Amino acid sequence: MKVLVYGSGGREHALSWKLAQSPSISEVLVTPGNPGIALEPKIRCLPAADFPALAALCRAERVDFVVVGPDQALADGLVDFLDREGIPAFGPVQAAARIEWSKAFSKELMQAEGIPTARFEIFSDLAAAQAFLSAVDWGDGWVIKADGLALGKGVVVCESREQALATVQDFLEGGAMGASGKTVVVEERLLGREVSAFSICDGTRAVFLGFACDYKRLEDGDRGPNTGGMGAFSPADWLPEGTAARVQEEVNLPLLRALKKRGTPYKGILFSGLMITKDGPKVIEFNARLGDPETQVLLPLLDEDLLPWLQAAQRGALQELPATGPRLKALAGVHVVTAAAGYPGTGGAVVRKGDAIHLPEALLPREGAPLEQKLFFAGVAKNEKGFVTNGGRVLGVTALAATRAEAREKAYALTRGIEIAGAQRRGDVGR
Ligand SMILES: Nc1ncnc2c1ncn2[C@@H]1O[C@H](COP(=O)(O)OP(=O)(O)O)[C@@H](O)[C@H]1O
Ligand SMILES: [Mg+2]
Repeated sequence: MKVLVYGSGGREHALSWKLAQSPSISEVLVTPGNPGIALEPKIRCLPAADFPALAALCRAERVDFVVVGPDQALADGLVDFLDREGIPAFGPVQAAARIEWSKAFSKELMQAEGIPTARFEIFSDLAAAQAFLSAVDWGDGWVIKADGLALGKGVVVCESREQALATVQDFLEGGAMGASGKTVVVEERLLGREVSAFSICDGTRAVFLGFACDYKRLEDGDRGPNTGGMGAFSPADWLPEGTAARVQEEVNLPLLRALKKRGTPYKGILFSGLMITKDGPKVIEFNARLGDPETQVLLPLLDEDLLPWLQAAQRGALQELPATGPRLKALAGVHVVTAAAGYPGTGGAVVRKGDAIHLPEALLPREGAPLEQKLFFAGVAKNEKGFVTNGGRVLGVTALAATRAEAREKAYALTRGIEIAGAQRRGDVGR
């Protein structure tokens, strides 16, 4: 089989690398990919200007199956488009991906189905939002969220009522989030520890791919601005016993039933962002795809071929495979991101491009490379001098080991071999 992965980041590098290990796959194409992914054996990167060009590419290259990585492509209806073109594609259709691209929709769905989540109200009118915030006190603060996709920048956790009032004003009147912020969700602030649950869904059934924890803030100790993610680890070894079963029964299956009932069955990866509170797991948000960088730690931990799972899910036939989900290695994984100078570009900073990247030869993709340590390429370009930075998160290293502490040591030891002027990374991932 020939499989095409759509996207260009570290997540798509991990997906294409994992799929290329499948004995059923002769070649993986990545569109557009990046020059680091292009070094992988059995993988080729090709551009496509738009969805029709992608369909033409799939036909010309005789692609059997497409896997879509990024949220924006799902929200733009790439899977619907490929369905119409008769090209099998893994991922939710636009109407099902709405659980991610509209936070208001997702909250109303959770409320209607009794899925545990923070209390909330939805507003498009500033005066109404202000009146509500002035009248209600949920105790631990408020969280203000732009309704639409916002590249991780549409959520403000507020400690005070003044901050909450200022934020709804910024979003609804100041246009701080553009069209994404024309509607806001005002939420109760939950206390607890966060974890992300990843499942493969076929419209009716869900099997776990794993749980992971990520590091959203730029600096050690969760300080500094929010980022796309500076690192991750898996499994979430601290989870209370029985969490997986509760998430399946209280969150994932009710969500699948609800979407099926509404005529938009959910096929694809379900990423349930959870807060483990004193009253059990509560949903912070749903995402309709794999996480970046969580994928870079989840997929190396998979102890079997990923392709049969994605295909069965796409065909609505997960019952053909074990209900316990794909087998996982009895190891822990830690992933450490190296970001460019200036990332994430807040406070007037500019994310610098074009810095030379110096890498130990041993980290580069090659035939027969070890599967327990892996460099993933994200924001990179190549010129006559070699690899240079070309975006926020540049590279990430995953290491697997018997314990999280050992995996962490190993990941940092490898990461220290990477040299980029002004590079930023956290020192406490996996601690
Ligand atoms: N109700 C809540 N209580 C406490 N923290 C929250 C709440 N909602 C969101 N957060 C925090 O804000 C982060 C981003 O919110 P989320 O809904 O995941 O939006 P997005 O990932 O689209 O930016 C979460 O990872 C969490 O740390
Ligand atoms: Mg989130």
